[in-house]
Amino acid sequence: MHMRDSFGSKIGLVLATAGSAVGLGNVWRFPFMTGQHGGAAFIIIYIFFIILLGIPGMVSEFIVGRHAASNAARAYDRLSRGKPWKYVGVLGIVSSTIILGFYSVVAGWCVQYLYASVEGEILGDAQYVQNYFQVFSSSIARPVAFGIGFIFLTHLVIVRGVRKGIERFSKMMMPTLFLLLLIIVVASCMLPGAVDGIAFLFMPDFSKVDGHVLLAALGQAFFSLSLGTACLCTYASYFKRDTNLVHSAAQIALIDTLIAVLAGLMIFPAAFSVGINPDSGPSLIFITLPNVFQKAFASMPLVGYVMSILFYALLALAALTSTISMHEIGTAFFHEELKSPRRVSAWFVTIIASVICVVSSLSVGAVPELSLFGMPMMDCFDRLTAQLLLPLGGFLTCIYIGWYASRQEVYMEFTNDHKVNRAFFKTYIFFVKFVCPTLIIFIFLDQLGLL
Ligand code: PFF
Repeated sequence: MHMRDSFGSKIGLVLATAGSAVGLGNVWRFPFMTGQHGGAAFIIIYIFFIILLGIPGMVSEFIVGRHAASNAARAYDRLSRGKPWKYVGVLGIVSSTIILGFYSVVAGWCVQYLYASVEGEILGDAQYVQNYFQVFSSSIARPVAFGIGFIFLTHLVIVRGVRKGIERFSKMMMPTLFLLLLIIVVASCMLPGAVDGIAFLFMPDFSKVDGHVLLAALGQAFFSLSLGTACLCTYASYFKRDTNLVHSAAQIALIDTLIAVLAGLMIFPAAFSVGINPDSGPSLIFITLPNVFQKAFASMPLVGYVMSILFYALLALAALTSTISMHEIGTAFFHEELKSPRRVSAWFVTIIASVICVVSSLSVGAVPELSLFGMPMMDCFDRLTAQLLLPLGGFLTCIYIGWYASRQEVYMEFTNDHKVNRAFFKTYIFFVKFVCPTLIIFIFLDQLGLL
């Protein structure tokens, strides 16, 4: 029988899984959501969800994945004793492939902006940058080509396998990403007036918090930890028997949150220092920010030029470590279920994601008719996954582990066969049985206006 691939080292496993978690969710979505939802109060609620829901949710997916050592659909089948739980795995595979499609559109924009920064094409006043973005994103060929190109780049890593592809690249990319981030944070915090941005990030004002903010923070926490997508389950299927699941989940959640907060520290001090309000939403990074860099470093244009290149390189790298994980979920599924070679399975995912990428890209550009409920398809895909499918996947995983799976088998996975974390087991089960599902239900009901 052919040996299943696995991560070769502990650091490799943590960096690869953190690479999945750390992505545009941290450096693009988290800052614009924080900007839109009032700053520090949003961050506090977000961290609350990471601890109460994120860590137990991650451990649950790890348990399912490592126990089965197989793709997500089969993994949910294993602990369930014949009930149709495998569809939770399938749901995750569908969600992650949809995300791969629209996420690559934004990743493609990052690459375009990286190129434009090197060429000095995005130097100009606010109006100019806005026009630049509009012209670029509403053209047909370039955004589509960059998006599909990004999926193909991901494909090239995936076909090399888990250890030689995913793990090796993550070990190189994650430290580089962290270094780039630190350089920009230091430069941004040294600007005159930067303290206002720091205060925005750390001084909470709870008067703006309502049910909508709660759901946004919940969606962001799930998206950022790659929860409910079967991604963690698929990666855990490559973990070794002695990997401490609770430690790994806590480490990854910590790295992910740290990077999100650092991304805030990179953007808000610079924005406030030039008097720009960071509440512009998704376009924050592509319309507001180029101008922020220019104005903030007006007296040192070379520093501004370099910062802008480093910034878009950082975004592209962060996106790549995440798209790799989204791609792997589907590839592992096709490879193991259809028995097709890994290379061919990867093509299936690449082609499906590319179709979603084309639809998403055109919907926010050249073909606005591609819309549903008055929203461009790209926003529909984003909302559908982050605010519905992922929390639903997380919810069902908790119900599955808490109420249906064999308690003995869950215990053996959680404690690595009686060796670690025995003291936390009861608390963990209490969380996945009651606390996490109830929280998710409340947030949904509130959003539906039923509370
Ligand atoms: N966690 C990633 C981010 O924050 O950008 C996004 C993501 C990765 C979502 C992998 C889903 C997934 F399966």
